Amino acid sequence: MRILFLGDIVGSPGRNAIAENINKIKQKFRPQIIVANGENAAGGRGITEKILKDLMNLGIHVVTMGNHTWDQKDIYQFIDHFPHLIRPANYPSGTPGKGYTIINFNAHKLAIINLQGRTFLPAIDCPFRKVEEILEEIRKETANILVDFHAEATSEKQAMGWFLDGKVSAVVGTHTHVQTADERILPKGTAYITDVGMVGPYDGILGMKKEEVIEKFITALPQRFEVDKLGRWQLNAVIIDIDLVTGKAKRIERIHLNQEKSIVE
Ligand SMILES: [Fe+2]
Ligand SMILES: [Fe+2]
Repeated sequence: MRILFLGDIVGSPGRNAIAENINKIKQKFRPQIIVANGENAAGGRGITEKILKDLMNLGIHVVTMGNHTWDQKDIYQFIDHFPHLIRPANYPSGTPGKGYTIINFNAHKLAIINLQGRTFLPAIDCPFRKVEEILEEIRKETANILVDFHAEATSEKQAMGWFLDGKVSAVVGTHTHVQTADERILPKGTAYITDVGMVGPYDGILGMKKEEVIEKFITALPQRFEVDKLGRWQLNAVIIDIDLVTGKAKRIERIHLNQEKSIVE
């Protein structure tokens, strides 16, 4: 089973980069399941129902979220209507939405779990304990399991990778918006990357216009950040191959495209 995982989609530059490139990526890599992190899809802050539907129309099967899940207030109305829109599983019980989903492909299943780190991010339940609980339930259904660990600290992400080595097919990091070059298959068969990177502006700062961000660092005064819509785009993703007999990963490959390096042969 081949999965394409797209990192945090940031605003219209991110959505446009997907619309422009997705067919070429599909042709080259032939992914069977496409998962994307959509926490910044609406102007950098959360996701709307329309944007979610647009992304699904482009062929994205599952959308994961993160610390920006609740930025668009409408999400409370629609989150429970979309089985393949998930938010971090370790929010307190009673939070709207759910933290994992299982998707069918031919006769096979893939479970996708979304978790959020607690280092330099709001205090929520323990992602390590929570994922153990979830695995107990879903292991009965499938061994093909992808985890999107939305977290800031590299150490926390590496800890999750090692904690889940041999228990899930892949642990991919999101949230920092910068792709790391540490993709590997861990010894017990779990594909790992600290951060997939984002799909969005290439010339801003983490997707936002750079002027206000620089100003904030210089003056320490509050600034209003906006998605950088004028500069070039970038698209960061990974391809993961899973052995359907064992649920272990066979391959993880990074994809980085940008306006100058857009061609996928
Ligand atoms: Fe993000
Ligand atoms: Fe985030």
